[in-house]
Amino acid sequence: MKRALKWAVLVILVLFIVAQAYRPDLSGPPVDESKSMRATANLSPEVGAIFDRACNDCHSSKTDWPWYSQIAPVSWWLKSHVDEGRGHLSFSEWGTYPQRKASVKLKEICEQVEAGEMPLKSYLLMHSAAKLSDADRKAICEWTEQERKRTAAAAVEVEPSTPGAESPGTRGSDD
Ligand code: HEC
Repeated sequence: MKRALKWAVLVILVLFIVAQAYRPDLSGPPVDESKSMRATANLSPEVGAIFDRACNDCHSSKTDWPWYSQIAPVSWWLKSHVDEGRGHLSFSEWGTYPQRKASVKLKEICEQVEAGEMPLKSYLLMHSAAKLSDADRKAICEWTEQERKRTAAAAVEVEPSTPGAESPGTRGSDD
């Protein structure tokens, strides 16, 4: 029995050491500030600060990797979270989203934080500062609603989709 245990520990140790050779590339996509949410949306400083502390590590190109992200297999797990998070939503690439996509993302941001789905629970274990208060959630949802209205109004100004909308005189014609 003792022998078996010794072997098991040895095998795990060897696997662990070999695993360290498989380092994920943590460098991330290049950052172009002109495409960031800060540069392209009407972000309030308050909500910007909440995103910085609670979301940016997974939803931007500016991930602050903790020391344990250098150690396999944790490194693989964190890297996959960040890749997936960025793929769904990146504040660093916000400016590249067409208006309708951005509008859907804004709605989802509010829904995800209200449902307590974001930030991920596993992240909160190691980042207690990322916890959201009720006031934080409220500020996020008020802002996303405002920003959706603002961008929708701006989009209508750029491309009026219904030609009749510009001539209010035709509306009451059948009175
Ligand atoms: C530890 C990494 C991590 C953190 C921190 C995090 N997210 Fe996420 N987020 C993810 C991952 C992974 C997904 C995709 C899988 C899923 O939905 O669970 C995701 C999905 C989302 C989606 C869904 C997007 C879509 O297109 O479906 C939204 C919205 C979102 N996150 C918003 C936020 C906000 C807002 C914060 C901060 C308050 C935040 N997240 C913090 C990892 C994270």
